Amino acid sequence: MIDLAAPASRRSFARLLGATAAYAALAPLAGRAQYPAAPAAASAVKPHDGDTGIRLSANENPYGPPPAALAALAGLATGVAACRYPDGDDDALVAALAAAHGVGAEAIALGAGSSQILHAAANAFCDAQAPAVVARPTFEALGHYAARRGAPLVELPLTADFHHDLDAMAAACGARGLLYLCNPNNPTATLTPVEAIRRLAERLPTGVTLLVDEAYHGYAEGEAGYESVVPWIARFPNLVVARTFSKIYGMAGLRCGYALGAPERIAALRDQLPWDSSNVAALVAARAALGGTAHLELSRARNREVRAATAEALAAAGARVLPSAANFLMADLGADVAPVIAGLRTQGVRVGRRFPALPHHLRVTIGTAEEMQAFRAAFASLRTAAAA
Ligand SMILES: Cc1ncc(COP(=O)(O)O)c(C=O)c1O
Repeated sequence: MIDLAAPASRRSFARLLGATAAYAALAPLAGRAQYPAAPAAASAVKPHDGDTGIRLSANENPYGPPPAALAALAGLATGVAACRYPDGDDDALVAALAAAHGVGAEAIALGAGSSQILHAAANAFCDAQAPAVVARPTFEALGHYAARRGAPLVELPLTADFHHDLDAMAAACGARGLLYLCNPNNPTATLTPVEAIRRLAERLPTGVTLLVDEAYHGYAEGEAGYESVVPWIARFPNLVVARTFSKIYGMAGLRCGYALGAPERIAALRDQLPWDSSNVAALVAARAALGGTAHLELSRARNREVRAATAEALAAAGARVLPSAANFLMADLGADVAPVIAGLRTQGVRVGRRFPALPHHLRVTIGTAEEMQAFRAAFASLRTAAAA
């Protein structure tokens, strides 16, 4: 029995979940998938040791890394690479990324995940006189690192339609510092249209680094209004873009991310990165992953289909689902989500944490069709418990 503490929450949750019987009767999501049988790497990834249950909490790719990356990892296990420092593989990945993005090697810095890039950027571009300007809510790491560095942290609410308030953010910048723009935004999954970013970039002082976090680029590609700003790095000397292999590349556990930007900013960022922080397994897997697009396309297509069905089911249950351009979505349940998160957890389904700025919104990562079916069942059983 779920303890929905406050009577008001209990009532609204019951009302919400009881809004339609169609919710429980929707066709199983699994039945909707039209894709060919997945390759071995693309079947649902088993939870790793000690982590049981269904993990819809960290915006990972449930289909795992591309087969080429797995083959590269398997090759490593029998090789001698582990006893050598990774400098050659580091250079090789930088060269591959430079070729893929059409930039020089000096425009790229590697990190152990893009978290390390965000950490280095906060240290490189923020200080007591150089604030970090971020949205609220957004991915918290950059703001956290900037505050730890002693920089003022300016958090500006999203607009009423859950977009970055770029005017307010630009106005909050001084001559120096960093403006962090997460696109699509985590946790709302909403997009900032490319034109709006261009106007922002044109008016920001060059002393302010515009850090665009494109962690979910692979999922946003093809969504109306979305475009990567990587092609602009030659045009805006203060633009830095963060990317990661943790999301659509399915390699979150390996830890590999990178930054792209003008050589001067990248050099400043590199100064804040530890030496040899990339591990050889991540480097070879990432390089192999860059060699093909089939797995990414499959992951993107499946994500879209399962996401649409999940959104439909949540909407049928009375939730207001924000439009998503990523591999997660946010649904307004009309009441505090803390008991829902806890209730799902007792049934072995982990969803995103509660975001204090949006306490009624539940963030759910899009897993496989089967995982989302389990989510729906657990969600429906909360309704039953709440109504009892
Ligand atoms: C927007 C965003 N940026 C960066 C990261 C960090 O990812 P990683 O360090 O695995 O590259 C995440 C992780 O969830 C994220 O959502």
